[in-house]
Amino acid sequence: MAHSEELGAFDILLRYVDVKNAAKDWKTFSSRPSAVRPVAARARLAIDWDPPEHTAWRKIVDLGVDATTPDRIEGLVEADTVSLIDSFASKGECDLVADYCEQVPLQAICHILGFDPEHKAEIRRLSGDVLASLKEPERLRKALGEFSEIVAAPVLGRRGKEGRDFLTLLANAEMNGRPLDVQEITDTMVSLLLAGHETTVSGLSSLLYEVLRRPEVRDRLIADPDLIPAAVEEALRLHPPVFGFYRRVTSDVNIAGVDIAENSTTYLCWAAANRDPERFTEPDEFRLDRGPARHLTFGFGIHTCPGQAVARMEMNVAVAELLKRLPDIRLATDDIRHEFRGSETESISSLPAVFTPTS
Ligand code: HEM
Repeated sequence: MAHSEELGAFDILLRYVDVKNAAKDWKTFSSRPSAVRPVAARARLAIDWDPPEHTAWRKIVDLGVDATTPDRIEGLVEADTVSLIDSFASKGECDLVADYCEQVPLQAICHILGFDPEHKAEIRRLSGDVLASLKEPERLRKALGEFSEIVAAPVLGRRGKEGRDFLTLLANAEMNGRPLDVQEITDTMVSLLLAGHETTVSGLSSLLYEVLRRPEVRDRLIADPDLIPAAVEEALRLHPPVFGFYRRVTSDVNIAGVDIAENSTTYLCWAAANRDPERFTEPDEFRLDRGPARHLTFGFGIHTCPGQAVARMEMNVAVAELLKRLPDIRLATDDIRHEFRGSETESISSLPAVFTPTS
């Protein structure tokens, strides 16, 4: 365990078993007032609540994304990857982050939420603005206001109408026996966008980084595409897009001989747990033979990520299509870094690659 005096002081759980047990025990490790720091003025929906409020919010979130979502949108994601690769295939070079990794999840989240693809650029700008301003209350208010104008109108326009698409389901959804208000609708959209876009961009960038920096790994995946899911899991384990989340301890506890006081803050560090040598042999190595995924990148317990199946599908499809079309693609530089992006997220900002041009 570690301790930090930053952000009002918090203990950091690092061992796999401690992080997993704490994530499972929501009564002792509460998500109230917020799973992120600094604490926002308002709860950010499912992620910031415990039951019973969490249960109600999770039902709303599940209207948009759950284990069945990949089947619904996989064909659309495949088509997106094909046309994105078309846009740079003849050039012999690209920046995989800007040209590919940022685009695939953005288009996927538009398919999930039911946004018109013509709003894509605007949605991209606003979700970037909201994320960048999470620690600046004034800027955040402005970004959320702009966002609300775009997302709330199409939902409100569907009130009372029939339909199985997310915007109509959200328009007619109830919370405690009443329809969601504009604020709650906006918050739902923002949380799905923030939770679902930047995280998957980061996951996909790390996957391509791990695969393309070793031509032998790339060639193994081309020869045996059944290994791609294992590569996806290893990239997610080694580079969790979200490093960890915070919890408030609701009663005195002792973990591995260390006393943690009631009301103090604890950080569940998925990133450290994923490299715990007691859980993973050769934890820093990228290995395709680890068997079923047991990493904590998507959390654990009642808050387990509802978008994990769709994120995995996007990563699988995106790498499979890229290797099929550009089999000799490789990184153009060794100088690639993961950087913190705020709100516990990390990502690669640029991934220049070269390949034999093709039509
Ligand atoms: C690689 C991509 C992703 C990563 C690494 C990731 C990570 C996580 C983690 C760690 C949690 C648990 C939070 C906690 O324990 O406090 C979480 C929750 C959540 N994720 Fe994801 N996520 C990803 C993709 C997505 C996608 C694609 C969506 C939606 C389209 C999504 C929506 C959510 C939501 C709504 C929650 C809150 C659930 C709750 O509190 O019950 N995520 N995610």
